Amino acid sequence: MIEKNRTEDKIEKSKAEPEKNASGETLGSKAPWWKNSVIYQIYPRSFQDSNKDGIGDIQGIISRLDYLEDLGIDAVWLSPVYRSPQDDNGYDISDYQDIDPVFGTLKDMEELIEKAGERGIRIVMDLVLNHTSDEHPWFCEAKKGRENPFHDYYVWRDGVEGELPNDMRACFGGPAWQWEPETGQYYFHQFSVKQPDLNWDNPQVRREIYNMISWWMDKGVGGFRLDVIDQIAKEPDMGITNNGPRLHEYIRELSRETFQKGDLITVGEAWGATPELARLYSNPDGSEFSMVFQFEHIGLDQEEDGEKWDLAPLPFKKLKSVMKKWQTELHGCGWNSLFWDNHDLPRIVSRWGNDGEYRVESAKMLAALLHGMQGTPYIYQGEELGMTNVRYEIEEYRDIETLNMYRERLEKGFSKKEIMESVYAKSRDNARTPMQWSKEDQAGFTEGTAWIKVNPNYPEINAESQVKDPRSIYSFYKQLIKLRKEYPVFADGRFEMLAEESENIFAYARDDGECRLLVVCNFFEEPVKCGLAGEWEGMELLLGNYPDPQGDLMRPYEARMYLGKARNSSGHI
Ligand code: GLC
Ligand code: CA
Repeated sequence: MIEKNRTEDKIEKSKAEPEKNASGETLGSKAPWWKNSVIYQIYPRSFQDSNKDGIGDIQGIISRLDYLEDLGIDAVWLSPVYRSPQDDNGYDISDYQDIDPVFGTLKDMEELIEKAGERGIRIVMDLVLNHTSDEHPWFCEAKKGRENPFHDYYVWRDGVEGELPNDMRACFGGPAWQWEPETGQYYFHQFSVKQPDLNWDNPQVRREIYNMISWWMDKGVGGFRLDVIDQIAKEPDMGITNNGPRLHEYIRELSRETFQKGDLITVGEAWGATPELARLYSNPDGSEFSMVFQFEHIGLDQEEDGEKWDLAPLPFKKLKSVMKKWQTELHGCGWNSLFWDNHDLPRIVSRWGNDGEYRVESAKMLAALLHGMQGTPYIYQGEELGMTNVRYEIEEYRDIETLNMYRERLEKGFSKKEIMESVYAKSRDNARTPMQWSKEDQAGFTEGTAWIKVNPNYPEINAESQVKDPRSIYSFYKQLIKLRKEYPVFADGRFEMLAEESENIFAYARDDGECRLLVVCNFFEEPVKCGLAGEWEGMELLLGNYPDPQGDLMRPYEARMYLGKARNSSGHI
């Protein structure tokens, strides 16, 4: 039993009085309502197919709302479902105010918002505002000529064909400039050639965007995730992509003109964020977003100054110091997202856990480690089942970034074997294989042929077998979600790193003046004595991934969570 030692009555005493927010909703803590929310990310293409075309869709999501409600999440972040040629799986939008036929119709979307709402689940849409598809009517007009009223919606530079304006590179490989014969100019694109960058310096572009957002707000959307928002204020002539000089001016205007008129949850994706910048993005005065989604911890296992494909072992102590930095430097003055996985990242259990013998233990350890921290936890579809990376033939990959890199590196002289090792470790398709619902054909994802091959381990790893099993990874996540709602220390507690010098143990305490939460994890396979028994004296074991704790000895990937009274209950430590 996982919850063997749980003693509800003792802990009961330390619960805070529930408060209410402006809309009268009961809060488990002093923080704004979204501070004890847990968000579930859905990559619609791979979640559930409803019409046998092999591609996940909105009706598929609706059919799985029971599952999401049972898990206990508060909101779903939906990767883009807008009309799109799908060059970058929907991150290339050709109509912000319509749904791509592959995913359904606007009516389906309204139905999803409504039915999710009935279960207390908000729908958070993905806003891609840095660029559109080259098939968006704005761009189709813009490229007709320099005098066209839409021309200035995008970023153009004069030039001669074959002589690029400068040597800036696109994130998906190749130059960031594309020649457009109709105008005799280059347009700027930070991602694929089919994703021209919007010109945020043009007030009309900003106005169009605000109107579009308000239109979605009127439909009852619960929030927005802002795709690569730190790249909107680019200054190509200065070689600047993220954190451009006018970035926060633009974000504040955007927030004021849209989000602040509703009660939304907003999260800004910012690869280039530092804690200092994050305090702006997530300023508690609400001038920008609710929270920031930053990546410092997740880029550690690559060669310094290299690309993500240049693999390096995870520097464990560096991971600890990065986590500590973000936990302490945003406390009381900003708000972070907590995540290991998303649709751009490999599966954490394969990456930093163990997807063999200790898959279950390590998946739970990684979950406990993250969910005990301050911030809003994100669960990426399948993470709650301990889904793993895949090793496919290159022909079976679908991701534009992976395929471009493969070609580029072959040309540069890398061996096929070397490239495939990078693909196995880091390809975004690791996260994009279909959700594993059951041991039925195609994992219960589709009755057709899935758009990308299903991970062959689905007969063993699937939702059906885990939902009812109290010892499953799924049930462990469910408990973590529940705990965050029960104990305000999860949202409010001050962070204190323990066993800082340990090469194996990741341990920390959280303290809100009432309660103390202690999280102790063995990050590796080797059993180790943690030397922290004194820390948990007098505390109750809330949750662990082994049924029978053995004192100081932490077994492979063992994780424990203890709860007790604050050290100094008269105030903050
Ligand atoms: C973000 C998205 C990613 C997409 C890119 C371009 O990083 O998460 O999937 O390819 O932006 O929109
Ligand atoms: Ca479908």
